[in-house]
Amino acid sequence: MLTGKVVVLGVTGGIAAYKSAELVRLLVREGASVHVVMTRSAREFVAPLTFQTLSMNPVHCDLFNLIEEQEIGHISLADRADLFVIAPATANVVGKLACGIADDLLTTTVMATRAPVLLAPAMNVNMYRNPIYRENAEKLLRHGYLFVEPARGMLACGWEGEGRLQDPAVICEEVISALARKDLRGEKVLVTAGPTREELDPIRYISNHSSGRMGYAIARAARRRGAEVVLVSGPVCLEPPCGVETVHVTSAGEMREAALGAFADATIVVKAAAVADYRPEGRAAAKIKKREASLNLKLVKNPDILAEMGLAKGDRYLVGFAAETVALEENAAKKLAAKNLDMVVANDVSQEGAGFGAETNIVKILCSDGSVEDLPLMAKERLADAILDRVVERVAQKRAGRNG
Ligand code: PMT
Repeated sequence: MLTGKVVVLGVTGGIAAYKSAELVRLLVREGASVHVVMTRSAREFVAPLTFQTLSMNPVHCDLFNLIEEQEIGHISLADRADLFVIAPATANVVGKLACGIADDLLTTTVMATRAPVLLAPAMNVNMYRNPIYRENAEKLLRHGYLFVEPARGMLACGWEGEGRLQDPAVICEEVISALARKDLRGEKVLVTAGPTREELDPIRYISNHSSGRMGYAIARAARRRGAEVVLVSGPVCLEPPCGVETVHVTSAGEMREAALGAFADATIVVKAAAVADYRPEGRAAAKIKKREASLNLKLVKNPDILAEMGLAKGDRYLVGFAAETVALEENAAKKLAAKNLDMVVANDVSQEGAGFGAETNIVKILCSDGSVEDLPLMAKERLADAILDRVVERVAQKRAGRNG
């Protein structure tokens, strides 16, 4: 997600400085070229060699280093950065930046950059609540600085409260988000993901192999692109995406209730969930005992949530998925028409690398204007963006058509 991006990481002097080593690792794993600038106090906590090894780039420490000035220089670092992130950001550095003080390499470089600056504060809870810190932070916010607010918990100083450096994975996600194009800003996107479980008795259920990866990737990508996202998720083992309102449900009935609740406000709906088409007619109150050689289960049809949304679509842009094992295009086209969809993302789930559980998918995108596009095998994270690229384009066309 960060391939080709230059991220300058400023590390200031707090006990949380050691956690920034993990942040470097995550940023590098996302493909970023990471350049670390350390303040003198930061070097009291962690040795530059740690950051140099993880970033595979020299660490910058001194404002007046003649070799660095010749080879890179603070202005060049400021110019080359796509984004600055300061983690941990102490009350001291927040105060300096708010007052325009540039008395070391980090503050000088930040003052000289035109790139977005993301601050991840970490400090004692009373410093964090101090009105002077708050004024400084608010001033920086007004000037367009971005913040990843600290977490609550036990602090190194012994106090408990807010002030812990956010999890490096959360900071990394905010870096990706800060660098993403914001072509979904103003949109309210509803995504469904994962399987549903239809209970037979207190210990058994009918379900499917959906891992939720496809839907979670779409929710994450939509949020990065500026949308307000509600994710209605069946039972999966994934962490809820950062900044996404996630509603956990189990059965198709619960998914219907939660999804229709969020539908009212949504401008775009993407239904990637694998909803069980049938449920047992009744749920046994006690465990079904093993008696006869065979057991007949009577199943009844679940409501088709997407079809209901299609009937009440209004101005919304409605995207469905189709999981097929035969006649992919033909079956997907039928779902597109029958459920009044704008787009259907069809996957032949019998293909290797496609569909349930996999990290990748192979899809065909059919739209209500009759277009059909084949996308090659790609990671679900990348596919999520590819789907949203097409949604953004089509939503603009649809709205232009309505207004024109
Ligand atoms: O979760 P992963 O492991 O990443 O796998 C991804 C996926 C294979 C689940 C995903 O790519 C996918 O294909 N999702 C849709 C699966 C499915 O249920 O397809 P369907 O053809 O049965 O349903 C068509 C559409 O109607 C879907 O958008 C579905 O959410 C919706 N539906 C279906 C039945 C029902 N009762 N209510 C619905 O809303």
